[in-house]
Amino acid sequence: MATILVCYGTSEGQTAKVADRLGQTLAERGHETRVTDIKSAPADLDDFDAVLVGASIHVGKQQSAVSEFVMEHRDALAGRPTGFFQVSLSSATDDPERRAEAADYVDAFVERTDWHPDRIGLFGGALRYSKYGFLKRLMMKRIAKEATGDTDTSRDYEYTDWAEVEAFANDFAAFVEGRLGTVPADAE
Ligand SMILES: Cc1cc2nc3c(=O)[nH]c(=O)nc-3n(C[C@H](O)[C@H](O)[C@H](O)COP(=O)(O)O)c2cc1C
Repeated sequence: MATILVCYGTSEGQTAKVADRLGQTLAERGHETRVTDIKSAPADLDDFDAVLVGASIHVGKQQSAVSEFVMEHRDALAGRPTGFFQVSLSSATDDPERRAEAADYVDAFVERTDWHPDRIGLFGGALRYSKYGFLKRLMMKRIAKEATGDTDTSRDYEYTDWAEVEAFANDFAAFVEGRLGTVPADAE
């Protein structure tokens, strides 16, 4: 069994939901898991065998608190199995250009932080019209028209493929188990 930290930045809550599902899947596999907003993440990573870091995209960038955390803990992250997951609208469609855009956001993040995670997960996010103020709602309606076509602002839309999220968690867990030579608690 490994002790795994899942920390994330979020603006409207979708990345927090993804982090919770990752944590739940890792826990079901028998690992001790702590899921936390990056703002409350532990200052010291010594207690964790492996770390997942997540962020969402707003105007082409991940939350700065996530980049700062990663840069501050770069050495500790480099010394253990790690993964990065990113939530965005660009990953919500099958359009290859938009999917390439999502990958470009990750490349820019890796270049900016000089952190090279072992695993990367790209997930579709959500449109939370109910949470946006007037201007943001207008802006997102315009962006959505091109991206997903979902412009009914009287409701929210969720594009996250939860099976993909669980598959990513299981793949990461298998990688961690292999690296640390551990077996899931329920397999012992
Ligand atoms: C103001 C705003 C700007 C956004 N900009 C982008 C963007 O540039 N590219 C993109 O792919 N998604 C963009 N999105 C979509 C978000 O990544 C998506 O809504 C995601 O689910 C947000 O996750 P969070 O709730 O964890 O913050 C934007 C969303 C908002 C509200």
